[in-house]
Amino acid sequence: MSNTEKYLKRLELSNILRESVIRTIVDTLPLPPESKGLDAGCGTGFFTLMLVEAAGVHGHVTGLDIEEKFLVKGRSLASKLGLTERVSFIKGDITKLPFKEDLFDWAFSMDLVGYLKIDPVLLLQELARTVKLGGFIYILSWSSQMLLPGYPVLEARLNATSLGIAPFDAKTKPELHSMRALEWFKQAGLSETRAQTFVSDINPPLSQQMRKALVDLFEMRWGEDNLELLEENKLEYQRLCRDDSPDFILNVPGYYGFFTYTLFWGRVL
Ligand SMILES: C[S@@+](CC[C@H](N)C(=O)[O-])C[C@H]1O[C@@H](n2cnc3c(N)ncnc32)[C@H](O)[C@@H]1O
Repeated sequence: MSNTEKYLKRLELSNILRESVIRTIVDTLPLPPESKGLDAGCGTGFFTLMLVEAAGVHGHVTGLDIEEKFLVKGRSLASKLGLTERVSFIKGDITKLPFKEDLFDWAFSMDLVGYLKIDPVLLLQELARTVKLGGFIYILSWSSQMLLPGYPVLEARLNATSLGIAPFDAKTKPELHSMRALEWFKQAGLSETRAQTFVSDINPPLSQQMRKALVDLFEMRWGEDNLELLEENKLEYQRLCRDDSPDFILNVPGYYGFFTYTLFWGRVL
């Protein structure tokens, strides 16, 4: 399987995990009715289509991504849902958007801006260039998780590895951590900057699909070739986070976990 296919599979698997909290977040966005919006770095378009619904029947959303294979998925989903009139999926680079000035009423980007090794202020300025005066820019980022109830030390150790803090890395300047995004907004010249964190609760009973998504998340955040773990932590990780282990954490009676997404926004003036 190519890296793109693996990434695609991972994104699709994570949809079920994120669906409910992202819907809540999208429902709080004050998108003007019949507005025109941009979803920059839209991936497979699953969440772009939530934005399409929120923008109203006469609204329109453009999903932009650099990976054509992801966009194909978005177009196919839009067609199945009868939403092709209200959405376009376009290949492009967020650093050089293929749009003229003041085209959109708002722009949104999820799990992208803090992930790119590019000055986030420049990315925000590029988004702002395409948004009309008075429109909002929304940046949404995965911000924390608590997934191993009863094992706070192990979870802290897993989180203290490079995979655990990704996409940040220990050598990056603190100003580039995604939780510093309000300052990026200010430096990009946006006003009315604010942030809000939303929690996604993981309550039993968990469907098979949800369990698969969580196992994949454990693997991605903590397990994949994690050379920074001590042997004892690695074994403990395998004992708790692998679904073929008799001590698999999701089988613990009363399992509960959560993760958070933080929304940052600012107005183009
Ligand atoms: C972590 S994924 C998030 C996708 C989607 N927003 C979601 O949350 O499901 C990051 C996305 O950004 C896209 N991407 C990476 N670099 C990009 C760039 N320079 N311009 C546009 N999209 C980019 C990737 O192809 C990928 O789909």
